Amino acid sequence: MSDLLGRIAARLRAASITDADGEARRIVSAAHAQGDKAGADERALAMAEQRANGKPLAYVLGRDTFMGVELIVAPGALAPRDETELLGNTALESLRRSGLAAPRVIDMCCGSGNLACAIAYHVPSARVWASDLTDGCVDVARRNVAQLGLQPRVHVAQGDLFAGFAGMGLEGAIDLIVCNPPYISAKRLAEDRAHLLAHEPREAFDGGPYGLSIHQRVIKECLPFLRPGGYLLFEIGLGQDRQVKILFERAKVYDDIRLVSNAAGEARVAQGRRKAV
Ligand SMILES: C[S@@+](CC[C@H](N)C(=O)[O-])C[C@H]1O[C@@H](n2cnc3c(N)ncnc32)[C@H](O)[C@@H]1O
Repeated sequence: MSDLLGRIAARLRAASITDADGEARRIVSAAHAQGDKAGADERALAMAEQRANGKPLAYVLGRDTFMGVELIVAPGALAPRDETELLGNTALESLRRSGLAAPRVIDMCCGSGNLACAIAYHVPSARVWASDLTDGCVDVARRNVAQLGLQPRVHVAQGDLFAGFAGMGLEGAIDLIVCNPPYISAKRLAEDRAHLLAHEPREAFDGGPYGLSIHQRVIKECLPFLRPGGYLLFEIGLGQDRQVKILFERAKVYDDIRLVSNAAGEARVAQGRRKAV
């Protein structure tokens, strides 16, 4: 085992993986957990090779932890990022502050269902409706909901933004919407961020000409669902804070428009409350 660990760590180091020792340990342990003992070393070496060739670690391992919840991660859905926990935790704080006994939440652009599952897991009285455009995301999100036993409280729909919720009777009933949309401009995806598309789907990143197309649409298109007094929370890219604030202000139907910053002082979450009528 320690020979194997050493070999894998050396392969990862040669591929410039920063935490080669840590990742080697996780790969070996995942390979042992995945199937028969006899094939575990072979599996670990094959996984290390994929990682050395640039595949995200979460895809190689097939699992990741988000806000303390263990999730299935698979190509077709973005591997959840640590930075998105700021959006999830802001949503949890907002739900706790609201004091609602049984809050109703939408996770728009749900990807693997990480936010929907984490919110439902941490707020056992919440009901969550999640939606995504792509087959790959909807499949992974539904698998996560099922493996966590959250089916009674988390529903995963498919469609262009809110289209998947038509006919469900959710109009005017939603207390909180979280959305981690694609927010990289098409130009940057063609240039300095092109590497992101090597392993993960374009739909997860492409936010249109300025990176803000989905924010702009969600701010308007959520209104049939978000009740007066309910909150819309976005993850935003670095440097998008001013523009997203302006989008909220221009819609003229939001107040309590605020930014939330991470530990480094960078604004990475934007929120607005639908004005009470
Ligand atoms: C940045 S990823 C976020 C995924 C997940 N919520 C997370 O936090 O890891 C953006 C997601 O938006 C989805 N998406 C892009 N355009 C969409 C649209 N028009 N309607 C619904 N989902 C969309 C993508 O498929 C992708 O899963």
